[in-house]
Amino acid sequence: MFHSKIVGVGHFVPENVVTNHDLEKLMDTSDEWIQERTGIQERRFYTPPEKGSTAKMAYKASLIALERAKLKPDDIDAIVFATLSPDFYFPGSGVLLQHMLGMGTKPALDVRAQCSGFIYALSVADQFIKTGMYKRILVIGSETQSIALDLTTRGRGMGVLFGDGGGAAILEATEEEGKGILSTHLHSQGEFADVLCIREPGTNEKGHSVYENQHLQFDKISPQMDGQLVFKNAIKRMPEVTMEALQANGLTPADIDMFLPHQANLRISQMVQKFLRLPDDKVYNNIQKYGNTTAATLPILLSDLWEQGRIKEGQLFALAAFGSGFTWASTLIRW
Ligand code: COA
Repeated sequence: MFHSKIVGVGHFVPENVVTNHDLEKLMDTSDEWIQERTGIQERRFYTPPEKGSTAKMAYKASLIALERAKLKPDDIDAIVFATLSPDFYFPGSGVLLQHMLGMGTKPALDVRAQCSGFIYALSVADQFIKTGMYKRILVIGSETQSIALDLTTRGRGMGVLFGDGGGAAILEATEEEGKGILSTHLHSQGEFADVLCIREPGTNEKGHSVYENQHLQFDKISPQMDGQLVFKNAIKRMPEVTMEALQANGLTPADIDMFLPHQANLRISQMVQKFLRLPDDKVYNNIQKYGNTTAATLPILLSDLWEQGRIKEGQLFALAAFGSGFTWASTLIRW
């Protein structure tokens, strides 16, 4: 039986730093409100003349992950790409990345599980590796949020929360027991789909074709959220799914060396940390500098730690995420 171990991670964010004070000039908000409610100080947005896309950020992150793993694109058997902000409505961004990396006819698929996307993608890749179908898989979380955000006072509820960025991880088959991805645990609850969503362009609003729809309404094309309902569910589901992973592996929170919570809100992360009774040095947050980068958040956290030399052989990492769908997920990784 094969297991998947992570042999390289990388990330890329646009150069353009947008601080809370920059947002104050665009909408009725304040640095104090944003920091107090979310912990965010700044985020990155693609802004002209810097040109980029979800697939291009993934490409740059992939090159770093490949270099760290001492591998070439040819060594990769498949791509699993998580995003809610693809370059095109279709096809997915996975094939664009596949082409950029010059991967011939290797397969690429997109995963749409929003903030839980990276763990869902890891889980899909892990199954391919466990069955022996593929030996090395490039797993991506990448998002260009800035294009959909309304950065006026009308959109301030969402506009201050998100940022652009991309992250990559390379999974490789190993026969070593007890190493790599120990398990993944995935959940969804579609009854809450419209609590956090972008409606258009979609097929659920019947009665018009997109060609007739000259007047897409603001509330359909921009992200909508019931923030408090999302908050309440996130602080329940993230500890729950982390405990599910620990129990499935005969472990307890005390066994965790590093906990990486999806970065939606620093207050959510702190409440989850408190529930799991983890000390500060066992939890890593970087929402302060990137905002919520949705599917990119977890690989960016991993890559940040990799750069800081804070990932050590034998350590146990727990990752948990919650987001639109609702979807939520966890994974345990033994390095
Ligand atoms: N700047 C200033 N004021 C703002 C604002 C902004 N950017 N956005 C909203 N407000 C205002 C609201 O209009 C409201 O004003 P009112 O009381 O006069 O009506 C007030 O601030 C409080 O808004 P509310 O939405 O109740 O705030 P909150 O304490 O729930 O915090 C969130 C809002 C979004 C920070 C919080 O609900 C949250 O983090 N939820 C989870 C978000 C999340 O995780 N999303 C991603 C999913 S992965």
